[in-house]
Amino acid sequence: MTESSTNQLWGGRFEQPVDAFVQEFTASVQFDQRMYAYDIQGSIAHATMLARVGVLSEEESQAIIQGLERVREEIEAGKFEWSIELEDVHMNIERRLTDLIGDVGKKLHTGRSRNDQVATDIRLFLRDHIDAILSELERLIYGLIDLAEKEAETVMPGFTHLQTAQPVTFGHHMMAWVEMLFRDRDRLRDCRRRVNVMPLGSAALAGTTYPIDRHLTAELLGFEAVAENSLDAVSDRDFAIEFCACASLIMTHLSRFSEELVLWCSQQFGFVAIGDAFCTGSSIMPQKKNPDVPELVRGKTGRVNGNLMALLTLMKGQPLAYNKDNQEDKEPLFDSIDTVRGSLKAFADMAPVITVNRENMRAAACKGFATATDLADYLVRKGIPFRDAHEVVGKAVAHAENQAKDLAELSLDELQKFSPAIKEDVYDVLMLEGALAARDHLGGTAPLQVRAAIARARSRIES
Ligand code: ARG
Repeated sequence: MTESSTNQLWGGRFEQPVDAFVQEFTASVQFDQRMYAYDIQGSIAHATMLARVGVLSEEESQAIIQGLERVREEIEAGKFEWSIELEDVHMNIERRLTDLIGDVGKKLHTGRSRNDQVATDIRLFLRDHIDAILSELERLIYGLIDLAEKEAETVMPGFTHLQTAQPVTFGHHMMAWVEMLFRDRDRLRDCRRRVNVMPLGSAALAGTTYPIDRHLTAELLGFEAVAENSLDAVSDRDFAIEFCACASLIMTHLSRFSEELVLWCSQQFGFVAIGDAFCTGSSIMPQKKNPDVPELVRGKTGRVNGNLMALLTLMKGQPLAYNKDNQEDKEPLFDSIDTVRGSLKAFADMAPVITVNRENMRAAACKGFATATDLADYLVRKGIPFRDAHEVVGKAVAHAENQAKDLAELSLDELQKFSPAIKEDVYDVLMLEGALAARDHLGGTAPLQVRAAIARARSRIES
């Protein structure tokens, strides 16, 4: 058996070459090459540590580090040839290192296994992407706070069951999305703490016989902690599952928001318009301007949820420690990262070009008896029990509906037929502004409260 027909990195005990299809089937280099920069970063830290503890000489370690930097340059210049025969990103880089610097390159893998190596690479990769996702998320929060501030007094109908319920301000509505996104930020930050733990040093599963210094490697790589148990560290992917769950919740929020934008852009609602740069036309209907970005984000939520299910299912049957199953963690994880990052970017870019049609929203709030609860509350303040007040207002609404009028358009005489307790001051509560201003407590829709919530959000986003 010649050396070249079996894998030189692990082919020692093999007599037959691996079947060509199996080689392709088991390879991951097609997708894990995305982690090359983190693989090299991890290897440089490992080689540095090995020299510090005397396992490698200073010259050997320097040769390896310089070689790894050359490999990185080749990859970045598009000159690196990835090979399926070398299975994955780790072995591709190691082989090229040895080609470049000779046999000393073969010493890099001392005291390490691909099992702790890959777990480390994924964590470094994910940590950077979480940071990028957090900054897009914050950009979106800023954009929505700005929009809320511009529209803090703008009246719109608030809905339950998608039926007009009570008037709210558009600013209050935007701040609801801001709250959801703040929770998403908290979740991601919390997830990042558990991602930022270093598996390296666990080797294949049991640790290594070399006198390694894991704290040093962790410090070099910016990890906050060193994994306590080698079996756990090489095998569990709960940190990736947790990230995918955070991503699913972000997408769920964006998807609900998308649904509102799609409805609001329609001719039937006409509440908002989205800048042309975020819409597309129709090849057949010249009048169309379609809200493609929110529609796509709503659609992409499905694949992100699918990725979460894929990882949960991937993990559930695995005995300790590492199993090749785990190679399947990368594509769903990468897809969730890319999708949530892209969706947040699109939304953050789009937020400043959402324009509001105040007249249409006010006209909609005037339909559907949005101030009926306010009339009932008014009667309660005049001493009528709430249940009776509810009944009185129900009748007044039926009457107004017959007349095709809003409650505020009924005369005092007409209103007094339903209850003599109704006086001239009733119009203060039947008017939309009065109804808004009355909900004047923490979390309420009164414009003063919305402005206070905006001020608090502005300081929270800086923290
Ligand atoms: N490509 C592998 C993965 O992604 C690297 C670890 C391989 N380890 C092994 N024992 N075969 O999981």
